[in-house]
Amino acid sequence: MTDHSTAMHAPESLERCPLMPTYGPPTTMFVRGEGSWLWDDDGHEYLDFLSGLAVTGLGHAHPEVAEALAEQARTLLHVSNLFGTDVGWRVAVTLDRLLGGGGQVFFANSGAEANECALKLARKFGGRGRHVVVSAFGSFHGRTLATLHATGQPTKHEAFQPLPEGFRHVAWNDLDALEASLDPSVAAVLLEPVQGEGGVNPATTEYFQGVRRLCDERGILFMVDEVQTGLGRTGEWFGFQHFGVVPDVVTMAKALGNGVPIGACWAKAEVAAAFEPGDHATTYGGQPLATAAARAVLAVMEREAVPDRARAAGAKLTAELSSLPNIEEVRGLGLLVAAELHGLTAPSVAAAALARGLVVNAITPTAIRMAPSLLISDEEIEEGVHRLAMAMDDLADEVVP
Ligand SMILES: Cc1ncc(COP(=O)(O)O)c(C=O)c1O
Repeated sequence: MTDHSTAMHAPESLERCPLMPTYGPPTTMFVRGEGSWLWDDDGHEYLDFLSGLAVTGLGHAHPEVAEALAEQARTLLHVSNLFGTDVGWRVAVTLDRLLGGGGQVFFANSGAEANECALKLARKFGGRGRHVVVSAFGSFHGRTLATLHATGQPTKHEAFQPLPEGFRHVAWNDLDALEASLDPSVAAVLLEPVQGEGGVNPATTEYFQGVRRLCDERGILFMVDEVQTGLGRTGEWFGFQHFGVVPDVVTMAKALGNGVPIGACWAKAEVAAAFEPGDHATTYGGQPLATAAARAVLAVMEREAVPDRARAAGAKLTAELSSLPNIEEVRGLGLLVAAELHGLTAPSVAAAALARGLVVNAITPTAIRMAPSLLISDEEIEEGVHRLAMAMDDLADEVVP
């Protein structure tokens, strides 16, 4: 048996670990969550500053989402997209309104699938010979072959060559580099408002406005990947709303289901019109259980003005973190934050934090990422930063001046 299944307490009698080795062995097994808190199988309590990688925006076990899921499970789980149901279209209407209107939605099951829809839409919209998608170095767009190639991290590509043709990468936040890459074969530009997996690096307003202008001048689609940043995380409903631009295509996932797998690709109606029946599909996309979760999530977020709360909580978290001695820089938007460390490595700080009952992750070798529940209280922020300070004190002997 491998360490992986041992860590998950699988029976010793198993011949081999039943899970493929795509992740390292987990150090902790969580059995319960509530709001910003998690409990492991030994009953230890943790403050969750990661939300399952920016997914549980309303915290764990949100009662309204749980009730919506239970009610939908008792009513109707799935019939396929060959038939109508009465939940998904309501979610699409709400998303369209939050995005400024005039668009249409395709529901998927994950972020990569939402992006796959955007990539196919760009090709169908552009037509033969105009199919290239330009994205940025340091970006992350998913792990399917196409979204992996859109991901601007060449080290992740190598083992899977040859990847689908038609992807190009340019320096992040560099408008000249982008402009130089735009030839007549380009159908779309795909960017994150904040590069999340790439180290929590926000776009600048000038960059996003410049990209919008270039795309308009050349009839190229501006597609924004809001899989990590969407639904209040950055202190606006969508990250691009910080920059005063409106994209042609927006993808989202993570927080939309608060832990229930769902993704969505929104496009302006004149762009979405490039798709015809049969062009794209997925068995589960928009099915009642996932969209019931999304409907409940959006209702809570609207009622409680969650993006505003995230903006205020993000400012508090940033201020508290900035006062810690081993933190050199705090960057991000709203409640998507990275702390650049001084003299300590991120994996060791993340491990020490876990031992002190705080969940964060090492997003680069020198930076930890925090993406707590958007409903986190001021007291929980203070407690989490206190735990982080204790974790860094625990590593005092390891500090490299
Ligand atoms: C910006 C962005 N796009 C796409 C993805 C892929 O989403 P998923 O893992 O749900 O396929 C992620 C995941 O972290 C992401 O952060």
